[in-house]
Amino acid sequence: MSDAERTFVMVKPDGVQRGLIGEIISRFEERGLKLVGAKFTQISEELAHEHYGEHEGKPFFDGLVEFITAGPVMAMVWEGQDATRQVRTMMGATDPAESAPGTIRGDFGLDLGRNVIHGSDHADEGANVREIDLFFDEDELQDYERIDETWLY
Ligand code: PPS
Repeated sequence: MSDAERTFVMVKPDGVQRGLIGEIISRFEERGLKLVGAKFTQISEELAHEHYGEHEGKPFFDGLVEFITAGPVMAMVWEGQDATRQVRTMMGATDPAESAPGTIRGDFGLDLGRNVIHGSDHADEGANVREIDLFFDEDELQDYERIDETWLY
């Protein structure tokens, strides 16, 4: 695979509470993306501030930190060709009123804040590497071949 890329994805507390972890993992697996890291974890206030630091000062920031620390999240790293963009497309628009049916937010989200999933922003260069580093140590990420990769690329 020439331009394999890793991207950070997180099922947010509302997605965990609604039992959507399996559904979301299935969608990425079936698309052909490869899971290389996964961590079911509780985000601390400190980590929330680091992760969403660019939004500090915005009117929704305090609510966003309160929400993301309210319960466990499923943090993951997915790998594949153009993975950051692929995942963003599959997630759908941030505003659920604009997310297309068939996307994860378009199928499961109704609220701008409680929108089920987070994925690294493709427009923010390096966001994927930064976010992976925040949540995972290098030895928590797996290097392996998936047998269907031969047929994907
Ligand atoms: S911005 O200002 O355009 O950069 O913000 P945006 O990319 O739309 O959203 C950034 C993240 O903040 C979440 N968000 C909110 N949370 C709670 N309440 C409100 N009103 C709200 N507005 C935006 C949004 O879901 C984004 O979360 P992530 O996890 O990055 O998708």
